[in-house]
Amino acid sequence: MSTEVSSLPWAAAPAAGNAIGLYAKWTPALDAKIEAALARLRDATIAHGDGLVQSSSLGVEDMVITDLISRTGLPVHISTLDTGKLHPETLALLPQIKARYGFDVEVFKPVADAVIQFVAREGEDAMYRSIELRKACCGVRKMEPLGRMLKGRSAWITGLRREQSGARGDVAFDEDDGNGRRKISPIADWTWAEVWAYVDKYAVPYNPLHDQFMPSIGCAPCTRAIAVGEDFRAGRWWWEDSSKECGLHAKS
Ligand code: ADX
Ligand code: SF4
Repeated sequence: MSTEVSSLPWAAAPAAGNAIGLYAKWTPALDAKIEAALARLRDATIAHGDGLVQSSSLGVEDMVITDLISRTGLPVHISTLDTGKLHPETLALLPQIKARYGFDVEVFKPVADAVIQFVAREGEDAMYRSIELRKACCGVRKMEPLGRMLKGRSAWITGLRREQSGARGDVAFDEDDGNGRRKISPIADWTWAEVWAYVDKYAVPYNPLHDQFMPSIGCAPCTRAIAVGEDFRAGRWWWEDSSKECGLHAKS
């Protein structure tokens, strides 16, 4: 199963001046996709109970999933990894989630000493010097906290979509994460246009950086806006000729 990677209409004039105006398009399939995503969230909650966590990057896909969770009324725990390098616009979504849904997102940060030692040894710009150093930075800032976030959990919910990249073209709705847990990706089959149509219809809060041609947002030093014709993930680790994965989703 594979889905064509989206080619984003960057050339279009930003009619409404924001991502909704540029991308939102309700499709005939979307009502059924929403119902199916809600059913996947309910099934996952029944199967895993407290063992289930939404891993939210606070990107638009994850905000849609948080909105879907709120509509199920189910007590799904939500966590995020704050690497210490996120944009302020990203972190500003935490109080917005609280205000809108009443959810307290649990924030996992890297071990301060490990970050201090890494930066002292390799410098603040280590990630640009080699893939090994970039992965080492991701190891300290993302992978170690991810381990703590998933400790005691049997399943995590992600915002992965098949359209995001060739490497993600066969993401399943429910799959083994390679570490004995289930990885649930309830909107794996949604298109970018459908994500934004949902945001539009239900007034989902989102990162304003998405309005500035950043479809995929990670850490500030490793995210840039994309240009006309570039791939969805071209703005992530753009200086690398790599698969553009940090290890969070090594299998996909
Ligand atoms: S990444 O591997 O390149 O960083 P991406 O930004 O596409 O991943 O996000 C894919 C999914 O990984 C998100 O929908 C979310 O489930 C999870 N994820 C990514 N970054 C984080 C983060 N900082 N905190 C929690 N989950 C994250
Ligand atoms: Fe470090 Fe960049 Fe990885 Fe963030 S994305 S942890 S800043 S290398």
